[in-house]
Amino acid sequence: MVRRRWLAAMLVAGGAWLWWSSLPRTAEELFRDRCRRCHNLPDMSRYRSDEMAGIVRMMRERNGADGVIDETEAKNIVEYLEGLESR
Ligand code: HEC
Repeated sequence: MVRRRWLAAMLVAGGAWLWWSSLPRTAEELFRDRCRRCHNLPDMSRYRSDEMAGIVRMMRERNGADGVIDETEAKNIVEYLEGLESR
């Protein structure tokens, strides 16, 4: 009995670790994960850095991305995108 409980605890811990380690960690990962939910990952180097905030806001307000990207995540993604080298 004790052993079975230990096994169950290990399974829960393993599952939690898997879930935790699959979470996006950096703003870039967040961008790659979230912005690919509805369309192919857009090539954001086509936009100027001062356009990024507007695009992300539009995705959330008009295209329904607020269900996928929360306020904090949006802020992080915008910061990441603004830091990209634009052409
Ligand atoms: C809830 C769905 C959804 C999410 C999440 C989403 N978008 Fe969009 N996006 C759309 C829709 C709908 C369009 C307009 C139709 C199209 O072009 O496919 C669009 C179009 C775009 C376009 C213009 C079209 C193009 O391919 O150049 C850009 C740029 C864009 N999205 C960027 C982003 C970025 C950056 C994110 C993440 C912050 C994001 N999207 C997340 C739904 C979404």
